[in-house]
Amino acid sequence: MTKNEHEAMIQKLLDKRAKLKEGGGADRIEAQRAKGKLTCRERIDKLLDPGTFQEVMPFMEGRITDFDLDKSRFLGDGIVTGFGKIFGRRVCVYAQDFTILGGSFSEVAGWKVSKIMDMAVQAGVPVIGLSDGGGARIQEGVYSLWGFGELFYRNSLASGVIPQISVELGPCAGGAVYSPALTDFILMVKGIGNMFITGPQVIKAVTGEEVDMETLGGADAHATISGVSHFTAHSEDEAFSMIRHLVSYLPLNNAEQPPAVEPTDDPMRTDKSLNTIVPADPSEAYDMREVINKVFDLGSFFEVHAGYAQNAIVGFARLHGQAVGVVGQQPNFLGGAIDINASDKIARFVRFCDAFNFPIITFSDSPGFLPGVAQEHGGIIRHGAKIVYAYSEATVPKLTVITRKGYGGAYIVMGSKYLRADMVYAWPTAEIAVMGADGAVNILFGKELKNAADPKAERERLVAEYREKFANPYAAASAGHIDDVILPEETRPRLIAALELLRDKQTKLPPKKHGNIPL
Ligand code: HXC
Repeated sequence: MTKNEHEAMIQKLLDKRAKLKEGGGADRIEAQRAKGKLTCRERIDKLLDPGTFQEVMPFMEGRITDFDLDKSRFLGDGIVTGFGKIFGRRVCVYAQDFTILGGSFSEVAGWKVSKIMDMAVQAGVPVIGLSDGGGARIQEGVYSLWGFGELFYRNSLASGVIPQISVELGPCAGGAVYSPALTDFILMVKGIGNMFITGPQVIKAVTGEEVDMETLGGADAHATISGVSHFTAHSEDEAFSMIRHLVSYLPLNNAEQPPAVEPTDDPMRTDKSLNTIVPADPSEAYDMREVINKVFDLGSFFEVHAGYAQNAIVGFARLHGQAVGVVGQQPNFLGGAIDINASDKIARFVRFCDAFNFPIITFSDSPGFLPGVAQEHGGIIRHGAKIVYAYSEATVPKLTVITRKGYGGAYIVMGSKYLRADMVYAWPTAEIAVMGADGAVNILFGKELKNAADPKAERERLVAEYREKFANPYAAASAGHIDDVILPEETRPRLIAALELLRDKQTKLPPKKHGNIPL
């Protein structure tokens, strides 16, 4: 080979690399920016530690040219795949490039994403997908459908093996939504991320209903109404910093413990303000988020699904540097009653924690399941059962703190000893009973009250008698159904001590192919 030929060979690779960077071309990149969106390569650079991205199969080209598909204009076929690092820890990544045929998912995309997913599972590292595309590439017919099918299959098999995260940075239409839906966490960027099975045009044609894309499947709709998304960001920058933060809590795979950090908060720290956080009046609400923020390492609570089913709280936090999953009721919203959406939210999070070795710390305060025809007909029986199932099958350390109401079913399902919580603590304000005093007196003494000379006074007497017996944790404690009554101020050191004991907890479930959670 001559010197010139050698130089030309090197130049060819450099030219190809330069062409890759051009995506669908300058005009398409300009159009992308006009929509307020970054290019897919800019996105990858912001997600990963600088200089760590290694691209995989960049030069793969599509073979289908039906419908005058002109693929000579670009390289990469609308998807960029590879691996890199987040805070020095390995991850795999794929990103749709909207500047190339609207980021539509092609046969080549199927090959490239399959490769990176297989590598992620074999290497045991999280995979992060950045979506911005028009769904299956229409011109490629069954070949693009194959691509999606391969991705969905891999998402399903990788579930519970490596963390999978989806970031919605543009349209995600049709069957394309099922890849994110199969992953563990979805983050949507407000104003640019949209997810829907059938778009506005199809809806209008089939039902006559007119709806815009944002109302139909924007970030707010999925964060608050459908519960499809777990996080909302207001900009792409915020999105990538949130994803980096999320990854910092997660183990790389299911054989690892969640990463611990050097503790910055005193493990013996007590907080007297917790002693009075539960109001004296049992019908008065308080903010469970405040309890969580005071107990865990300061500033470490990272809430998941914050806008959805706000009667429940789930998220990650740290206890003496150790990452844990936190579940709680929120008395500030629907009185902390458990409804269909809260059931799904809690059960899914508990299962994630169990799959990825997060101890589960539960703060329970619930008057029970939300009554009503809508709840019954919506299947609260089936949905509520998921919480029981999720806690029962979870073999990670499980610690529960009952702060106030532990009534009936809600007491049982929220990490009780019966579902094999390792330690159940109650605050002195805990009320553990089949139901609240008013309801119990109505049922037990309805006839007596009707015939009483002074029904109001008699009612007050009976309620006081019931509260005296059950509106405290000691009946449950004396029967051995809770492990200790603790001062609220000492919750943090008590949880840290119990977690330390249980660090290497060993327990096994009966052998089976898999269970049948009531979906
Ligand atoms: C091929 C597509 C495409 C697709 C968009 N494009 N979607 N090409 N297949 N699925 C192309 C457009 O033709 C256009 O090319 C370029 O991408 C940009 O699209 P625009 O429409 O100009 O952009 P915008 O106005 O921002 O609208 C984006 C959009 C819209 C909302 C995504 O393009 C759209 O509704 N696309 C179709 C969505 C859809 O129904 N997809 C199929 C879903 S079915 P030019 O060259 O003109 O710029 C599916 C089945 C999977 O995914 C099933 C798996 C089980």
